[in-house]
Amino acid sequence: MSAIQAIRGMNDVLPDEAALWLAFEQIVERWLERWGYRNIRVPLVEHTALFRRAIGEATDIVEKEMYSWRDELNDEELTLRPEGTAGCVRAVIEHNLLYDGPKRLWYAGPMYRHERPQKGRYRQFHQYGAEAIGYPGPDVDAELIVMCARLWQELGLEGIRLELNTIGSPQERARHRTDLVRHLEAHAEMLDADAKRRLHTNPLRILDSKNPTVQQVVANAPDLMTYLGEQSREHFDGLRKLLAAANVEYVMNRKLVRGLDYYNGTVFEWVSDRLGAQGTVCGGGRYDGLFVLLGGKPAPAAGFAIGCERVVALLKGSNRAPATPCPDAYVLQQGEGTLEFAFGIADALRSAGYAVVQHAGGGSLRSQMKKADASGAALALIIGEDELRAGEVTVKPLRDARAQLRVARATIVGRLSEFLKGG
Ligand code: HAM
Repeated sequence: MSAIQAIRGMNDVLPDEAALWLAFEQIVERWLERWGYRNIRVPLVEHTALFRRAIGEATDIVEKEMYSWRDELNDEELTLRPEGTAGCVRAVIEHNLLYDGPKRLWYAGPMYRHERPQKGRYRQFHQYGAEAIGYPGPDVDAELIVMCARLWQELGLEGIRLELNTIGSPQERARHRTDLVRHLEAHAEMLDADAKRRLHTNPLRILDSKNPTVQQVVANAPDLMTYLGEQSREHFDGLRKLLAAANVEYVMNRKLVRGLDYYNGTVFEWVSDRLGAQGTVCGGGRYDGLFVLLGGKPAPAAGFAIGCERVVALLKGSNRAPATPCPDAYVLQQGEGTLEFAFGIADALRSAGYAVVQHAGGGSLRSQMKKADASGAALALIIGEDELRAGEVTVKPLRDARAQLRVARATIVGRLSEFLKGG
């Protein structure tokens, strides 16, 4: 029978690599809690309307990348979440979480986008997201950015640059949009099919075009910065001052507009040159209009999401990748009645906090010793009929030349740390 394979763009993470994921997740989750963010867990599946409204009809995600289907039983249009902000905001509104003030929240998990898979771009990928909800000021924009800078430091990752922009308020963008469309129309012969398609749906995304001819037109296009009112300017200046105070460097990227429509004001991306074409490891910004758009009371908010696959790829390439943890002891046994004895010892050691692997599957003592060695354990605990009769365990250090010795069953739990340290 032919073997069934995983879906293209949806990856297995095998144990060797999963150890790195676990180490990464522990660091990130401690870091989020240290910055005062609290965990929220929302479903993977939501009503399609949520994403259409939040992310925007004229975005790549909504136009062509969502895994959506009709649930005939309930007569509902459903979608696998392509990102986490929409579901998080929906939950905050639904449960009235802002009743006693602003909230800092984080979430993690798989997201689904039907993109063309390539290195760093998958159809199932994972994010850590942070959302600071109910805070209007640039201090929170700065907090979100500085906390990322500190995470890269903690992970030992270098060369991740911050790209920063402000896209103003919806009113400022509307005025800019009118002039932008006029400019682009005047150079229509230089636009490609994609730019022409976006001209009347999402012209800001044309600024992002990779086509050199379109870039020429864009180079002389009206600059959104000159359309910003006093409030938007002050907000952005406030952010820049706080970034300077925290010694966080950035490059201004006037073309950075992000691929989701809910943003206003500050937008940012963290980009690495070491990942090829898919170098953005984190993206975010302010989205003050989303609560009203989703039927809630007005609430200012800002956040970001980190792409885990891309950060883990950077960790793999750095020499700071955390080592795979090895067991403290590997328990092996042979002979009548020894299995029960060994089981009890392994169990007692684990209850005392040690990492213990018990050999399973039988075999000669020699082949069991090979398994013990390959496990990376510091010690082998050997139980034969002789040990069983004497009520003892043979402790054999596996990582140095120390001689093995016999230890009374009654004292092994208390003494194990001594053997682990003695290497
Ligand atoms: P996003 O820029 O669409 O923003 O995604 C955030 C990050 O997820 C990207 O920078 C990238 O690292 C990773 N990512 C996105 N698509 C893929 C993919 N197909 N394969 C692998 N990694 C991917 C958001 O999702 C917003 N919800 C962020 C946000 C939170 N804004 C405010 N709050």
